[in-house]
Amino acid sequence: MGKVLTMAMPKGRIFEEAAGLLRQAGYQLPEEFEDSRKLIIDVPEENLRFILAKPMDVTTYVEHGVADVGIAGKDVMLEEARDVYEVLDLNISKCHLAVAGLPGASWGSVAPRVATKYPNVASSYFREQGEQVEIIKLNGSIELAPLIGLADRIVDIVSTGQTLKENGLVETEHICDITSRFIVNPVSYRMKDAVIDEMAQRLAKIIEGEGEESS
Ligand code: PRP
Repeated sequence: MGKVLTMAMPKGRIFEEAAGLLRQAGYQLPEEFEDSRKLIIDVPEENLRFILAKPMDVTTYVEHGVADVGIAGKDVMLEEARDVYEVLDLNISKCHLAVAGLPGASWGSVAPRVATKYPNVASSYFREQGEQVEIIKLNGSIELAPLIGLADRIVDIVSTGQTLKENGLVETEHICDITSRFIVNPVSYRMKDAVIDEMAQRLAKIIEGEGEESS
């Protein structure tokens, strides 16, 4: 019996794609895996334990070592800047970070207000642009902010663009592309290197295969 590997999985929109990737890599996950409301799911047949976390918290669990490995969006990695190894770009849950606002709206005040779930990313982006802004941190439904006069612009994830469109907002600046990453706790990487390397290799094989198919 090998060592159990604990993996932090992001609940929500990344979850199904991440679980699908693990299945493709040959990990036998229970049928009810995607539908369960459990927060800890043990898969003893594979020596795996899954922790189902809020996407923004995955890097926290991995940094503290309560999860050996995890799947985290690059957006979370940039925002949280945690001490974890980024081992593999899983190339799933593709989207991008962007600045958006009402069409034709100009930057109003001396320090325009920017609403976002990503205050660190937004601050450093505008600092690099040489623009002074006031950041307003929200936890979701960011698109509301310009509609109700809370902010001049938003910094948020754009995937299909549907949320911006349905709320009459337009993207004004593309900040960076985002995909999900396989991340590892540095101590776990020393203690459980064989099993973590195996997982990384099995995942890499699937990703490379898909890259070849689509090219
Ligand atoms: C994210 C993001 C946008 C939306 C973008 O929100 O913050 O609101 O998805 O997706 P789209 O371009 O495909 O429309 P999420 O649904 O994760 O919820 P949130 O508003 O609570 O952050």
